[in-house]
Amino acid sequence: MTARIIDGKAFAEKVRAHVAEDVLAVKSKYGITPGLAVVIVGEDPASQVYVRSKVKQTAEAGMNSFHFEMPSDTPEAALIAKVQELNADPRVNGILVQLPLPKHMNEATVIETIVPEKDVDGFHVINTGLLAIGDKKAMVPCTPLGCLMMLQETLGDLSGKKAVVVGRSNIVGKPMAQLLLNANCTVTIAHSRTADLKAEVMAADIVVAAVGRPEMVPGSWLKKGATVIDVGINRIPAPELGEGKNRLVGDVDFASAAEVAGAITPVPGGVGPMTIACLLRNTVTATCRQNRID
Ligand code: GUN
Repeated sequence: MTARIIDGKAFAEKVRAHVAEDVLAVKSKYGITPGLAVVIVGEDPASQVYVRSKVKQTAEAGMNSFHFEMPSDTPEAALIAKVQELNADPRVNGILVQLPLPKHMNEATVIETIVPEKDVDGFHVINTGLLAIGDKKAMVPCTPLGCLMMLQETLGDLSGKKAVVVGRSNIVGKPMAQLLLNANCTVTIAHSRTADLKAEVMAADIVVAAVGRPEMVPGSWLKKGATVIDVGINRIPAPELGEGKNRLVGDVDFASAAEVAGAITPVPGGVGPMTIACLLRNTVTATCRQNRID
């Protein structure tokens, strides 16, 4: 293996320690404790794991953590009423509604109910619009923000780099492309209908893989020395670990990619921990903006 491993876990610990310092400062100077409310609807096991981590780490950073669980048959109107209640609650500075929502709900309608100032996910159209025009007031979605921070930590200034984002989701692919563009990269967004995906990846100095397909990008697609950020978290059967066991893999084939890349994030221990650290950071940012604290 030749690639440097980008240690998202260690980086996230640093970010969280910094957040905890900021929380203490805001508490002691202004008497304000930042608060994050997380709402989960239904019993999706993966979502429950993520939400538990978010709630725990919020409290560990010294913030108020509010956690609401609603059954999967909750009417959309009841979820909207909950969001409106949280919008009006001065103890709540950030609101996160865990996605995906049950099929009978319209995610866009629910997200647009969150006041943009408390939208710590950065999913509200006001925030996606602010990000698109490069306005610093945008709340930036946590996963792409974490990816950008790791890229800047690894490469320094990203100006002039060729970046390919594989995947065009609203949560990761599109905001990732906007962030890279704002950082002066030349950006390609590739997706399932891209004619020659290998050629697009091969041309890139920076590859962000966010498609949700296990080990889809092999090392043979990479330019020598490329920096690879793997957003995928896929569970695949691992009979070698015992009957019925699974293991976590990314969207990149780590073993072959690490032979060609200059630097690469592992799965797990790469992007995942940074996402939650950025959520905590966004909550402090939201608190400061709401209270006009620099
Ligand atoms: N589901 C998967 N990732 C996310 C995220 O970053 N935020 C929310 N709200 N739901 C998610």
